[in-house]
Amino acid sequence: MMEPKKQLQPTRERLAVLTPGLGAVSTTFMAGVELLKKGASQPIGSVTQMGTVRLGKRTEERTVLIKDLVPLADLTHLAFGAWDIRGEDAVQVMRRSGVLTEVDIEKVRAELSQVKPKPGIHNPEMVRRIEANHTKKTAHHRESIEALRQDIRDFKKELKAERAVMVVCMSVETYRPPSESLSSLASLEKALDSNHEDINPTLLYAYAALQEGIPFANATPNNSVNLESLQELARERGVPIAGRDLKSGQTMMKTVIAPALKARLLGLSGWFSTNILGNRDGEVLDDPAAFKAKEVTKAGVLQSILQPEIYPELYSDVHHKVSIHYYPPRGDAKEGWDNIDIFGWLGYPMQIKLNFLCRDSILAAPLVLDIALFLDLAQRLGWKGIQEWMSFFFKTPMAKKGLVAENDLFIQQTKLKNTLRVIAGELPITHLGLDYYGDDLPIP
Ligand SMILES: NC(=O)c1ccc[n+]([C@@H]2O[C@H](COP(=O)([O-])OP(=O)(O)OC[C@H]3O[C@@H](n4cnc5c(N)ncnc54)[C@H](O)[C@@H]3O)[C@@H](O)[C@H]2O)c1
Repeated sequence: MMEPKKQLQPTRERLAVLTPGLGAVSTTFMAGVELLKKGASQPIGSVTQMGTVRLGKRTEERTVLIKDLVPLADLTHLAFGAWDIRGEDAVQVMRRSGVLTEVDIEKVRAELSQVKPKPGIHNPEMVRRIEANHTKKTAHHRESIEALRQDIRDFKKELKAERAVMVVCMSVETYRPPSESLSSLASLEKALDSNHEDINPTLLYAYAALQEGIPFANATPNNSVNLESLQELARERGVPIAGRDLKSGQTMMKTVIAPALKARLLGLSGWFSTNILGNRDGEVLDDPAAFKAKEVTKAGVLQSILQPEIYPELYSDVHHKVSIHYYPPRGDAKEGWDNIDIFGWLGYPMQIKLNFLCRDSILAAPLVLDIALFLDLAQRLGWKGIQEWMSFFFKTPMAKKGLVAENDLFIQQTKLKNTLRVIAGELPITHLGLDYYGDDLPIP
């Protein structure tokens, strides 16, 4: 056992989880937590609640729940606040979104009808398919930031929470290539002063959170802490950050299958991914400029996993196509198809077909919970800036400049579990295993 550098004590204080965006994902997360508090369900899909970590040697048979290994906030201490550009409360949103049954909604109606969003910061050029009726009347970015900072303080008071984390769960904003005006903290400050048009609402929520010392995660593809300017601010303010875009369905499967192909040195000539989706997220993504933002986060994963620069014969000519089609009859029940063209021994071609009939928000909700609890843990450890060990949860994970972010789900999981072991003062596990065989396999 290693001595933990800093022994973290369990916390009994309340933790506010604040979500810009009170939509299908955030309300499914909140309703799920309330159902769990009542013992009315199981935390299926949540690493923090059901996940385990093996400690020490295999022969020791020590496997513990993650939530017993590290002192995470308890679900009974969570409280929720949100911003939205529509004025519906969480129960109205749940009824409209059609994710949970009326029976489940009824069980949490009392708690979730209390979750009423504060008015959001809106830019109608960046979210074009939603008719906003609940927005702040601020005219300048600096004014918007001040209003958001005040909201954060008010939320903490109203929810009687000592700590808070922010997880952005709002609509996808139209794609903007990284702009020079936002590249460093100094240039970002100037852009804020001049009320620059490149600044998107997600960035304002992030800036406000960091200035308030609140850990920040981005569950969407929108620009925010992926920008070096905000990473600089996070380090300066001593705040942990994570993002971006949840890795919940099709990309999660992609980051499982691509490593398997690479492990067996099977070649890839094409990967055609398409989806039909009928929820409001799908409606917003029907705007080509918003889809472009999603395409960027969905398309990037293969390159870093397959490493065509190391395996040019196998992966230098991959046709990777991704599309999402808005198809209202399906609601939140997204259907994804993947056609994967691979080749094997002597170059002979083969195909893999994948058909994932999923539920978008059911997959996403536990990730929001895990991200909130791990970010809070990072904050209590005094960790700041990019939390690469949380890359497991994201489509486009962040890494320090100069490092390539890891996309392989199982390497990400190993990173996550080893980080938790180290936090708890345990040794990381390499899975080497020669020592079990003694003289049969002497270490050379
Ligand atoms: N599996 C998944 O569901 C999944 C996976 C990865 C990422 N995401 C992302 O999560 C986000 C939320 O998805 P959803 O299904 O809940 O969408 P949703 O449309 O149900 O909810 C988004 C909410 O954000 C609000 N909003 C828009 N602009 C806002 C602003 N400027 N300030 C505050 N609120 C604003 C909208 O009014 C809406 O209520 C999307 O960006 C989506 O792409 C979802």
